[in-house]
Amino acid sequence: MRPPCHRHRFVSSLGLFILLASQCQTSTTARHVPYRTLHRVSNDEEPPGLAPPSQWDSESLIAMQFTPDPYAHRDHMSMILSGELVLAAIRYSPSSFATEDGEADGIDYYGNENDHYTNVDGEFCIFQPSDNRKDPSSYPTITSIMSESEHCREHRYTISLTEVMQTVRAHDNASYGDSKNPVVRHLPLSGMIFHQGYSGASLISNAMATFDSNLVISEHAAIRDALSACDTIRNRHLSENCSIRKQHRLIRDVIALLSRIPSSDNDDDDNNNSTIQRLYLKLSSASSAYLPTMRHLYPQAKWAFVYRSTAEHALAKTMEPSRKKACIKSKRNPSSALSRKSSEYNINVEELSNHEMCAMYLSTFVETAMQEHEESGTGMLLSYEIDIVENADFIVDVVLPYFGMQEEIDLDAQGVRDRVGSILSMKSNSRVGVNPKDKLWTGERDIEVTDEVIAASRLFMKGSMESIMRTRR
Ligand SMILES: *[C@@H]1O[C@H](CO)[C@@H](O)[C@H](O)[C@H]1NC(C)=O
Ligand SMILES: *[C@@H]1O[C@H](CO)[C@@H](O)[C@H](O)[C@H]1NC(C)=O
Ligand SMILES: *[C@@H]1O[C@H](CO)[C@@H](O)[C@H](O)[C@H]1NC(C)=O
Ligand SMILES: *[C@@H]1O[C@H](CO)[C@@H](O)[C@H](O)[C@H]1NC(C)=O
Repeated sequence: MRPPCHRHRFVSSLGLFILLASQCQTSTTARHVPYRTLHRVSNDEEPPGLAPPSQWDSESLIAMQFTPDPYAHRDHMSMILSGELVLAAIRYSPSSFATEDGEADGIDYYGNENDHYTNVDGEFCIFQPSDNRKDPSSYPTITSIMSESEHCREHRYTISLTEVMQTVRAHDNASYGDSKNPVVRHLPLSGMIFHQGYSGASLISNAMATFDSNLVISEHAAIRDALSACDTIRNRHLSENCSIRKQHRLIRDVIALLSRIPSSDNDDDDNNNSTIQRLYLKLSSASSAYLPTMRHLYPQAKWAFVYRSTAEHALAKTMEPSRKKACIKSKRNPSSALSRKSSEYNINVEELSNHEMCAMYLSTFVETAMQEHEESGTGMLLSYEIDIVENADFIVDVVLPYFGMQEEIDLDAQGVRDRVGSILSMKSNSRVGVNPKDKLWTGERDIEVTDEVIAASRLFMKGSMESIMRTRR
């Protein structure tokens, strides 16, 4: 007999309540989780999420009109194999990456590697990650694509990721041998875009998304949460029992799932999926702290880090009311990079003002990227003001070729220049349904730099900004 599922609730790195099933055998029969239809916030930092049931006021409960799930009768695992169901999010428990007795970081008593995480679930729903190609400026993040899918809003399936990976591996391996008609391809991870936040990185990823051969996945919550898992477990559950080896396995599994391109058996010619050759990831700004991890796992992938040369502007943008939560929360849930910096400088983060906290948070991204760039001699550090704004030439002549697009640029140089020019003329995160006139980029006159912003950025960002500007020479 299968023991009943005990649900644990805990708060994820973004303060979202998460329901977890553990101590129970998960099966491919999906557990339905009611999702509140949250409207996307306009910035690209905060994903829509699960609100705790206690916060659902009766009014919104009545307003929740779930439609019947048209796919309820289908086998969900086969829908994952065929690519109809796509990974939308992950959930893990505080002990998901725990080392077993006698293990030292995923190496067991006998010296064998054990990188199997436990009790990690994937949430899957129906959406098309490549939908951003049609109109990248309207779909700057994967969340903006999912939010248009009724299935993703109302009928996500929660399935054990271990079980999914076993099934997917066996299936893809079997189909791989059939080279005449491969059912599934795995795209190589060809590039990663890291950024400071509100620094125009979407302009680069949107430009990349206009190429038929690229799949650009932007700010996927599952990648963000996998990257921060051990830090979150340490901060929120005060547990050091988190095997980096197991966490890395999760990161690779998540990206392996997102890199699958299933093509249907008989429509190779008119299936546009067959033109997709490369995967690019634009990461969430918070994931910049994990740039070294991603580099370690994907050493062959090109990368760039996008920052604002004007520190006051970077901080002012980050302190806008709808945006500042993420960095203020890092007081309680710092990345290891941030913890290292505060102990190095003997800073008690509890004593910092919000402005100071956020300035320090931003500076760790710059320092992490700069250090990785200098030590490995890889990567490109891109200034928003100098390299991106009104600089389509630099993007077409330098940035896109660096990421491997030269061949396609040669085929249609003017077309690419026009596409990039048009991306740059739009706000990087305009949404569907916005009046086309309001999508136009109108410069930066609206940045409000207060005295607090100036003081905090001088104190915590000046040094790192000066160093990164020096790397330009
Ligand atoms: C880590 O957690 C596991 C499972 O909860 C436990 O068996 C193990 O002893 C713990 N390891 C350490 C080093 O605390
Ligand atoms: C893939 O299939 C081959 C032959 O069928 C087998 O030898 C190999 O171990 C499989 N690999 C994985 C990862 O399952
Ligand atoms: C690409 O493949 C997916 C999964 O098989 C399918 O749903 C989608 O319609 C395909 N897209 C195109 C343009 O053929
Ligand atoms: C497939 O791609 C071609 C050119 O790349 C385009 O003209 C066509 O509209 C696309 N078809 C679909 C179904 O997206």
